[in-house]
Amino acid sequence: MTDVLTDKVARFVRAAGPSPDDTLREMDEYAAESGFPHVGPEVGGTLALLARMTGARSVFEFGSGYGYSAYWFARALPDDGRIVLTEIDEDELEMAREYMQAGGFGDIAEYELGDALEIVERYDGPFDLVLLDHQKRRYPEAFEAVRSKVPVGGAIVADNAMTADSIQFETVLEFLEARDRGPERRNDDLTEDIPNEATDATRGIATYLATVRDDEAFETTVLPLGEGIAVSYRTE
Ligand SMILES: C[S@@+](CC[C@H](N)C(=O)[O-])C[C@H]1O[C@@H](n2cnc3c(N)ncnc32)[C@H](O)[C@@H]1O
Repeated sequence: MTDVLTDKVARFVRAAGPSPDDTLREMDEYAAESGFPHVGPEVGGTLALLARMTGARSVFEFGSGYGYSAYWFARALPDDGRIVLTEIDEDELEMAREYMQAGGFGDIAEYELGDALEIVERYDGPFDLVLLDHQKRRYPEAFEAVRSKVPVGGAIVADNAMTADSIQFETVLEFLEARDRGPERRNDDLTEDIPNEATDATRGIATYLATVRDDEAFETTVLPLGEGIAVSYRTE
């Protein structure tokens, strides 16, 4: 797996960034012990920052795990805000519920057990911020499902935009560099340009990044934090 940040740079970002509270520290310890792939404090602090900068009131997450990313978002939401957590693993969702309650965010959180792609269909939105952190191969589908529910001034954040065990970094890079940009390409069959040997996750990430880059209604920047996050801000 390609390292996005060196250990020293990651330490620097953590040291200079917002302080985790006791619950977040406990959640970080759980990730370290269990090997659970949470977004980590560098991305967590950025999610909270995005929530504050966009004045977000409502958030939807695809793949909440035990609630780590949701907790960072919740710290930046108003008391009457709302965050929808989705998770296919019942035990993880229960842990998320306990951590969110420990942080005092029980009232603003909704917990949905099941496939995020099905759950999102039951919500009208609007969602000022959306986090994609479920199956990488399904990011393009998730984008199509949630696109119209994100208002101008809102944003979609996709984790693992640069790396993950199942993502072939060089393949995504070559695909993005080779492919022409432009809205006229938006409806092309993107998958034709991706090598056959690419993993499903690689295909999902490559397709997702080209789709959001070519979508005129969004402006996308990839931030090299954690495993890379693609932030797509809705401009129109
Ligand atoms: C990388 S983890 C999420 C981490 C979380 N965002 C955090 O920062 O702690 C991905 C999670 O997505 C869940 N998941 C996978 N497919 C899903 C789906 N279709 N709908 C909802 N959750 C899903 C997995 O069970 C796993 O807990």
